[in-house]
Amino acid sequence: MFDIETLARFQFAMTTVFHFFFVPFSIGMSLVVAILEGCYVKTGDEKWKLQAKFWGKIMLLSFAVGVVTGIIQEFQFGMNWSDYSRFVGDIFGAPLAVEALLAFFMESTFLGLWMFTWDKMSKGVHWLFICLVTVGSMLSALWILIANAFMQHPAKEGVIYKMVDGHPQLKSFGALIANTQAWYEYAHVIAAAIIMGGMLLAGMSAWQLLRKNEVDFFKKSMRIGFIILTIGTLLSLGSGDLQMRALMNDDDQPMKFAAMEGDYEDVGQPLNNGEKFSDYENSKDNAQWTAIGFFNEKEHKKVWGIEIPYVLSVLSYHKPTGAVQGMNTVNKKLVEKYGEDNYYPMVTALFWNFRIMAAAGMLFLLVGVLGILGTGKKFTFMFEKKFWLYVTGLTLFVPFIANTAGWLITELGRQPWAVYGLIKTRDAISPNVSSASLLISNVVYFLLFATLGGIMIQLVRKVLHQGPSALFEKKEETSVDPFEKEAFSHE
Ligand code: HEM
Repeated sequence: MFDIETLARFQFAMTTVFHFFFVPFSIGMSLVVAILEGCYVKTGDEKWKLQAKFWGKIMLLSFAVGVVTGIIQEFQFGMNWSDYSRFVGDIFGAPLAVEALLAFFMESTFLGLWMFTWDKMSKGVHWLFICLVTVGSMLSALWILIANAFMQHPAKEGVIYKMVDGHPQLKSFGALIANTQAWYEYAHVIAAAIIMGGMLLAGMSAWQLLRKNEVDFFKKSMRIGFIILTIGTLLSLGSGDLQMRALMNDDDQPMKFAAMEGDYEDVGQPLNNGEKFSDYENSKDNAQWTAIGFFNEKEHKKVWGIEIPYVLSVLSYHKPTGAVQGMNTVNKKLVEKYGEDNYYPMVTALFWNFRIMAAAGMLFLLVGVLGILGTGKKFTFMFEKKFWLYVTGLTLFVPFIANTAGWLITELGRQPWAVYGLIKTRDAISPNVSSASLLISNVVYFLLFATLGGIMIQLVRKVLHQGPSALFEKKEETSVDPFEKEAFSHE
């Protein structure tokens, strides 16, 4: 019914999407807690301590579930993608080992120390623990993204790798780390984590304010959330722009770029014969941007679209002129370079996911800026108007959607390659995995993820509903002496 490649890809996508619900959640929340505890260290005000302890509880939940999903993610390589693992083993071994040995250990050790040493260490040392958890989780993301960046942009042979017996072998660890793609991705993913942290704080607080639960506490959290959200959003727009413009170059992934913009044909006339990227960049034509579009992927055609002049030139080159290569031109170049194949990715998916991600960025900016203005001394509408509390509460779910859209673009846009220019996805699958086993493991994973997700939501809701005072106020000691009547009191 389903072919092996589709099932294996579906499973990888499902696992990645689910795992990536928790990655920015944990990084973002640990940063939030580090900021809140930093305020406590600086001011000595117990209110900040309560903030750090309370949001720290939600951070711990995300770490617990996130780690489980990460392990399942790694299983995939051995189970479904063993040819791929053999192919890139010499390259991936180093960054993934550093991730596990250094970053993950750092993160988990200091997380444990942070959890168990409240009031047992000096304030400064305790704060250092959570800072190291944040640094550790960010380093962990860096090593994974260095590996992912190699798949997106392995660069020319001789820089990062050399081919030995048909396999890439690591030539320079320094060049692997210096891959610009890794740093663009890293900046964008960390920005996404900061957005997630800020939005979780603001959004969860908004729901509690609607319930009139511990109003003063959640007003404080909500304002901090808006500030963090705005900073993260500005970073994500800047880093997204860098990524976008890097993709366009012929030695990167111009096909992904053209698909994200839904352009089959060149937009504007290139100079000379358009062989070089600079022929497009220096063209005096202006390129129109397709705001909304529908496509016939089989016939490689845009069926209908709303086009706005100049915008694509401005987005691509930050100037009103400049042409952009369409997918048909890029496909011709790829056929010449790599041989006959279908190099078109899933255009509709890329086009719309890009718009969802970018629109989410605009929404975060709006909510963040209004949030900062509307929770200050002069205006307080964000706290008081139910409409804005609902807007903030519902925007809480949008980072999950934006992150999923982002990864779909990154990974679907690279197809048909598993490692760009080196190995195709269809050649990367385990030779003896069957569709039956894939179907079963897909169902099992789906059920597992749904259960884990459900448990996570319930636990977070429970913590939020209990609120900080109930969770951390000292409970009166009840006697457990069976001869005392209090031992049987249920009041
Ligand atoms: C206008 C704003 C944005 C632009 C121009 C933009 C641009 C991009 C581009 C071009 C990619 C693909 C990179 C590649 O394959 O090399 C990407 C991926 C991604 N985006 Fe965005 N993005 C924007 C906003 C956001 C927002 C607001 C979020 C999340 C809150 C987000 C999350 C992601 C994620 C998680 C990925 C996958 C990881 C990566 O490749 O960096 N993006 N973005």
